[in-house]
Amino acid sequence: MKSHLILIGAPGSGKGTQASKLVADGGFRHVSTGDLLRSEIAKKSDLGFEVKKVMDSGQLVSDELVIRLLQANIDLSKYNYIFDGYPRNIVQAQTLDREVLKGSSSLAVYFDINPNKLVERLANRRTCKNCGSIYNLVTKKPKIMGVCDECGASDLVQRPDDKEEVITNRLKVFSETVNPVLSYYQSHGRLVTVDAEANVEEIYTKISSKV
Ligand code: AP5
Repeated sequence: MKSHLILIGAPGSGKGTQASKLVADGGFRHVSTGDLLRSEIAKKSDLGFEVKKVMDSGQLVSDELVIRLLQANIDLSKYNYIFDGYPRNIVQAQTLDREVLKGSSSLAVYFDINPNKLVERLANRRTCKNCGSIYNLVTKKPKIMGVCDECGASDLVQRPDDKEEVITNRLKVFSETVNPVLSYYQSHGRLVTVDAEANVEEIYTKISSKV
């Protein structure tokens, strides 16, 4: 039976890029806690307003809220998932096993990258507001500037948390929380590491060979 995939990596390490390629291949559903939180913000609810303040500062949203959103948006009885951006800390890693996976097979993939590369990657990222496709003004330009290759929408935007001062904070939070998560999956024999500085196709081939 196929494993669920858990993508772990610093902001900008390429988790979303690889998740869309793996989903396009068939066999997986993609669930990104960042995307779920951004949908909550788009509703302009009181909760969305609170979430926005936290995300715009680069901090983590509360574990309780994130697991609630995650649980409400997955159905493990039907699909195999790519978990993108969850877990972010050891409590979330344990919660994922205990309350979500409940013994289902899973493999964690760590996107290993020098943090110095990330500010430039993120500052140049543009995302399609309509379909979520990810671009980069340096390494993956859309064919027509400002227009999404996939859905044709003229809606390529920069994420509010991709400003340099917020990126620095997101990277700090990541470096403070990731090691126990990696040790957890390593100790359970469920961790593979990919070189996230390689090109997109090479990384994709490496991950595909593991699933
Ligand atoms: P989230 O949306 O999860 O963002 P993130 O983890 O910071 O990751 P990113 O989406 O920024 O980057 P990515 O690794 O997907 O890279 P991408 O493929 O886009 O979280 C945002 C916020 O939500 C958090 O800060 C927190 O506040 C909150 N949150 C989310 N989950 C939470 C949780 N579980 N608990 C609590 N709070 C939570 O690529 C980046 C750029 O690089 C693109 O331009 C791309 O084209 C380019 N690129 C990708 N791969 C390559 C490559 N191999 N070579 C060159 N360029 C590449």
